[in-house]
Amino acid sequence: MKKNYFSELEKLLDNSSAPYSGFSVASIVVCKDGREFKGVNVESAAYPTTICAERNAIFTAVAEGIAKGDIESVHIAARNAEGLLVTAHPCGSCRQVIAEQSMNDCVVYSYQSAQDYTENAIATLLPFAFLGEEL
Ligand code: THU
Repeated sequence: MKKNYFSELEKLLDNSSAPYSGFSVASIVVCKDGREFKGVNVESAAYPTTICAERNAIFTAVAEGIAKGDIESVHIAARNAEGLLVTAHPCGSCRQVIAEQSMNDCVVYSYQSAQDYTENAIATLLPFAFLGEEL
């Protein structure tokens, strides 16, 4: 890992808006050229319109002009309703978006602390990804 993002993620968790689940998630997307984009989960009273932290970060990155394949890594931290930091891996929808936008080539870090984190290639988290080449 080039840089440990745990302390930034821990601060970012305070920006999460999760009044329904109480489960806060923060994500930082890092590009190969060093650009960084932040996201938090934002929940809605119309539950399915909730957006995950990882997709929020990636959609912001796309809006700011990144191209497919620019993403180097995605960093994630989560805090449950009891206020405990827990390891959270991206949901299936987020794995799909991460795979597409990184051209199936980036590393996903899920932290419980600065020392305790998992590191997985997106291609491992989402095998046989549908990347849209067949469309
Ligand atoms: N959540 C994320 O932000 N990222 C994930 O990868 C898993 C789930 C959010 C969505 C919802 O606001 C809360 O966590 C509970 O599912």
